[in-house]
Amino acid sequence: MCSHSFYGYRFLLALTSNFPFKTGCMNTNTKKLYIKTWGCQMNEYDSRRMADVLAPLGYTAVDTPDNADMVILNTCHIREKATEKVFSDLGRIKTNKEEKAARGEKMLVAVAGCVAQAEGEFIAKRAPFVDMVFGPQTYHLLPEMVAKAVGQRVINTEFTTESKFDNLPAENGATGASAFLSIQEGCDKFCTFCVVPYTRGAEYSRDVAGIVAEAKRMADMGTKDITLLGQNVNAWHGPNGETLGDLLYILNDIAGIEQLRYMTSHPRDMHDRLYDAHRDLPKVMPYLHLPVQSGSDAVLKAMNRKHTAAEFIDTVARLKSVRPDIAFSSDFIVGFPGETEAQFEETLALIHTIGFAASYSFKYSSRPGTPAAQMGGLVREEVKTERLARLQELLKIQHTQFNTNCIGQTLNVLFDGKGNKDGQLYGRTPYNQAIHAQASERMLGQVVPVNITGANAIALTGIVATSESVLAA
Ligand code: 5AD
Ligand code: SF4
Repeated sequence: MCSHSFYGYRFLLALTSNFPFKTGCMNTNTKKLYIKTWGCQMNEYDSRRMADVLAPLGYTAVDTPDNADMVILNTCHIREKATEKVFSDLGRIKTNKEEKAARGEKMLVAVAGCVAQAEGEFIAKRAPFVDMVFGPQTYHLLPEMVAKAVGQRVINTEFTTESKFDNLPAENGATGASAFLSIQEGCDKFCTFCVVPYTRGAEYSRDVAGIVAEAKRMADMGTKDITLLGQNVNAWHGPNGETLGDLLYILNDIAGIEQLRYMTSHPRDMHDRLYDAHRDLPKVMPYLHLPVQSGSDAVLKAMNRKHTAAEFIDTVARLKSVRPDIAFSSDFIVGFPGETEAQFEETLALIHTIGFAASYSFKYSSRPGTPAAQMGGLVREEVKTERLARLQELLKIQHTQFNTNCIGQTLNVLFDGKGNKDGQLYGRTPYNQAIHAQASERMLGQVVPVNITGANAIALTGIVATSESVLAA
């Protein structure tokens, strides 16, 4: 059975069984849906798709939980104290729910995402007012789960064999000039510090037809820049051995899409075709987020990263050889169990060697259930704090340098929002730098050349290079 009709069947089932709304296919009785999203872009994408799947049931997004009919906390497990943060929010939501109940109204409370996946039973036990707990693989089943949750609690943290992507309805919201498109989920890499393989499950690649259809829809709605998303996005593969590079060639041909990006990549999954794509395809932006985590081979081995520092440096060099203007950002973890001062300094050395345009850096923190949580040689908190400060100081110098080097250049900027000040728009450069520039509102949603006039560690400023008359012509 084709997967879309499978979704249709489930949806119909929900509508005709104990479904709470009595209208036909489309519910006209507007209900307020509040979704709070933590964590990565995958979660942002998922939240939007949850809103999409709930829209036909009459749910419209609102930006406060106060009087919402449904609250979804879309959680992230990657940071420390993730569960505590969820419970702290749930405390406030409980009050909202009680206030609503006092008015004789019902609020459905759901915990979704990776904390739900990892700690579903615990949440259900400790927060009895939570109606639904479900993991990231199950969002296409939301209509069914909502229908059930009217009469009973729904706990769904199973990994399904069906793909949520294939079973979600077509996107129905406007996507904006820049948009995310999820193409891959889960991870088989099992880095020893990381919860993702346990919360998002095994590596899964979405099929090409679904990806292309979604990209075309986005283009039709005015999207110019697509970031392909996946926990290990360059592990994406097609049924006949196609790799991410092949997919980029296909997407490069979609009219209207002007910029393509992808994240987050693993250095081990840089296939030949991906280098070709960076060499050949003008729409593939000259910017790559490539996490390295550490510059020490011993630490990389303990992290199970499956590559050495030298191999990472070679990968960067090869990308630069095919696309000389490419810039890199990365993720770093300091204070991994057993990390010595000398090993930490190898990370600083790698940073010196490569030079990063942007970065994210973290103190190692233990995640229950991961192999690193069982490791000895814990690094003291003060040491981690001190190493992180040194690492970030160096990276900040590099980010500032990279941005400052752009002053005097003309960069193509995709404007996708209003700036802080009147007469300004906000956008992104090809290197993913945030930029505020003096520009006409008519340029919103367009890629426009901008003269860069100012820079600091985190953003640029500029003035549109194109005169109004040129743009109007
Ligand atoms: N401790 C610290 N940082 C972590 N990350 C993932 N798990 C941990 C952890 N247990 C960081 C990695 C990863 C990024 C998304 O979060 O750097 O690339
Ligand atoms: Fe986690 Fe990324 Fe490693 Fe996968 S590759 S286990 S998502 S850090």
